[in-house]
Amino acid sequence: MLPDTLRDKNVCIIGLGYVGLTLAVAMADAGFHVYGVERDQRILDSLFAERAHFSEVGLNDKLSEQIRKGRFVFANKIDPAWPTTVYIVTVGTPIGPDKRTQSESLLSVISAINGVMRPGDMVILRSTVLIGTTRETVKPQLDALNIPYDLAFCPERTLEGKALMELRSLPQIVGGVDVESTFRASQMFSFLTPAVVRVNDLETAEAVKLINNTQRDYIFAFANEVASLCEVIGISADLSPNFPPVKSRVPGFRQADPAVVSLFGRAPFLRPGLPRRSRRAQPGSRLAVGHRRRRREAALMQASTAAP
Ligand SMILES: NC(=O)c1ccc[n+]([C@@H]2O[C@H](COP(=O)([O-])OP(=O)(O)OC[C@H]3O[C@@H](n4cnc5c(N)ncnc54)[C@H](O)[C@@H]3O)[C@@H](O)[C@H]2O)c1
Repeated sequence: MLPDTLRDKNVCIIGLGYVGLTLAVAMADAGFHVYGVERDQRILDSLFAERAHFSEVGLNDKLSEQIRKGRFVFANKIDPAWPTTVYIVTVGTPIGPDKRTQSESLLSVISAINGVMRPGDMVILRSTVLIGTTRETVKPQLDALNIPYDLAFCPERTLEGKALMELRSLPQIVGGVDVESTFRASQMFSFLTPAVVRVNDLETAEAVKLINNTQRDYIFAFANEVASLCEVIGISADLSPNFPPVKSRVPGFRQADPAVVSLFGRAPFLRPGLPRRSRRAQPGSRLAVGHRRRRREAALMQASTAAP
């Protein structure tokens, strides 16, 4: 239940893909009135049939319940008559063939919001974006309206298959364009999840998401290298009955077990790059010291042979 005095009880979520639809259902379940916007007619047809267009644990039951309660309605464009005070943007930001993030959907959504925004409304970006996008690309468009508004970046960090549970339990990162925006967005999310982490600015919140993604890449890459190694040695890579799975850890300077690198030495032709590189990134380790010494020697050599 939400308190009657809460200003932001009516939220508009634009882009009902995986991120937008799970958020819409979780927020409706938490007591918000959610107005969804989706341009893909097939997705809307599926929603009219009270079914998600993808599979996610527990989603269809809650979706159907919230549609029937009238707490989740949707359309193919924003209806200016909706009593929403918050716009949450969850459209895709895919990487194009030129390896750059494609922001066309994001920009077209911001211009649609511009057409209906009232003074004092809040815009929240949730799509994954390049650092600086909210301030440098979105804010100037909103400024052009010349009305007061709040703006925040609050990244989606859930794992597929666990979204509904994680949306109600994972800490929500919130970075606003100013203190008022940060506190307003924090207050709204505090009715969804018990932990809200306010960060200093938009860029920090954008960076947290990218760092999380990079950390996951490393975890997967490490698991793949371990699997290759185990295959060569002839042991099972499924260590889970005896060892905890690799878990996300808060980054920090940990001294790793030196045996790990020598273990990988059993299969040098695999060239397991990650353990060696991670060792180099640890201050004081033998590899880090050796690596720094070799780099210093190479630099000295280059300097001494350089033309005057
Ligand atoms: N899928 C994930 O697990 C995940 C997790 C964290 C963050 N993200 C990020 O969140 C964002 C959304 O991801 P997703 O997987 O939900 O993407 P998606 O492509 O599945 O969904 C985006 C939806 O937005 C709709 N859309 C695009 N432009 C629109 C417009 N102008 N008006 C209305 N609807 C519009 C599309 O039709 C689509 O259904 C991306 O930036 C992604 O990188 C995704």
